[in-house]
Amino acid sequence: MKPKIVIIDDDRSLRRVLEYNLQQEGYQVSAAASGEEGLALFAEEHPALVITDMKMPGMDGMQVLKAVKEQSPETLVIIITAFGTVDIAVEAMKAGAYDYITKPFNRDELRLTVAKALQFTGLTTENKRLRSQLADRADFRTMIGSSPAMERVFEIVRKVADTEASVLITGESGTGKELVARSIHTMSGRKDAPFVAINCAAIPRDLLESELFGHVKGAFTGAIKDKTGKFLMAEGGTLFLDEVGELPLELQPKLLRALQERVIEPVGGTTPNKLDVRVVAATNLDIEQAVAHGVFREDLYYRLAVIPINLPALRGRREDIPLLLRYFCAKHSADKVNFGKSALDALTTYAWPGNVRELENMVERLLIMRDSDNITLEDLPEKIRNRGATAPAASSGPVINLPAEGYSLEQLEREVVVTALERNQWNQTAAARFLRIPRHTLIYRMEKYEIVMQEKS
Ligand SMILES: Nc1ncnc2c1ncn2[C@@H]1O[C@H](COP(=O)(O)OP(=O)(O)OP(=O)(O)O)[C@@H](O)[C@H]1O
Ligand SMILES: [Mg+2]
Repeated sequence: MKPKIVIIDDDRSLRRVLEYNLQQEGYQVSAAASGEEGLALFAEEHPALVITDMKMPGMDGMQVLKAVKEQSPETLVIIITAFGTVDIAVEAMKAGAYDYITKPFNRDELRLTVAKALQFTGLTTENKRLRSQLADRADFRTMIGSSPAMERVFEIVRKVADTEASVLITGESGTGKELVARSIHTMSGRKDAPFVAINCAAIPRDLLESELFGHVKGAFTGAIKDKTGKFLMAEGGTLFLDEVGELPLELQPKLLRALQERVIEPVGGTTPNKLDVRVVAATNLDIEQAVAHGVFREDLYYRLAVIPINLPALRGRREDIPLLLRYFCAKHSADKVNFGKSALDALTTYAWPGNVRELENMVERLLIMRDSDNITLEDLPEKIRNRGATAPAASSGPVINLPAEGYSLEQLEREVVVTALERNQWNQTAAARFLRIPRHTLIYRMEKYEIVMQEKS
């Protein structure tokens, strides 16, 4: 017998949708139209899970959550929040909610969230199947960020997700390129078909072609049977070409053809296969430079980058850092952890060369090593602590982390100019004063680096 669920939502149609979909999944569902009614139902039914809307007249979701947790701490609660209210969701998680769903949501999201919550209460085969899917579940709401730069990224993702356009995601290591690729897939009409990822840099050159396009038995020594390539595996879904900048030049025409004509030819095969695959690619190389140097085909670049998305480095959006810290603490069920002022200063001043990944790893380590829930400067790794001690947030000097393989001075100068403009709300006079250069010099630099004025925020 599948577990019992109580749904509480004042919106009649949404209530119906929830009820219907969860009944379809075989759960025993009952629904209430208000917090008060819902709690009565809860007392009667003893459900394993309560799903409640956050905003309701009378008793709201937070009050429902608290009452449920008080009476029955083991009952799971999932809350439903409006899109863009991650703060409220985080609050609710702190108060003991198991998870949250953001409106509007789709059926799969609901199904997966509920299955995840109930995975330990009813270990049916269906649950097991869902659990393996959960392993590679990533959806939009797990991308955290409220900086203008990330808002712009979210906006593009929302717009392009449900189109067929090829997307090229660029950004430093650990900025969330794969997360964006997965979000695009989950938010598209292809979400029920596979998301297949291949790392072009990790596969030896001579294997990459058959890895991508497949091969037929006997195509080369060792090809003892037919092999399905990643393209075909992604049929109907999305193929994520990670580190596409490393794709060997000799394979590029074949990829171009696959993108242009939507056909692939397995190695050694004679008949091309028609296919329906959406391609999302990512790279942390400067691919335009690779084009300029002739190691990446220009035509392929334009095919891949119909929609370019550049993920900003974490040090360029420091306001996201406290949010990410809170999020990762919540993710590791350490909601009570609190960062002291000096610790927070150091964390927001540090350069984060490994971006969000580095931050997440740091939090994880911190949570294991901590003696108390109050994190102070002393608890932080030395490199971060020193940063904070020598450069307090208010008067931080430039924090320059040059990659081992070298970095272009022009690129650095461009970044300095953009940062100065951003800091000064794109006011050129103020930005020029900030950089201690005349305004016309700033304008010259902006033209040189093709920096486009952003709307003032
Ligand atoms: N905005 C974000 N909100 C929450 N988590 C994030 C965000 N950005 C990145 N992460 C997390 O940081 C880690 C690194 O992200 P991801 O693997 O997508 O980076 P990447 O750009 O593909 O890195 P690389 O170039 O090294 O492959 C992942 O665990 C991801 O979930
Ligand atoms: Mg990646």
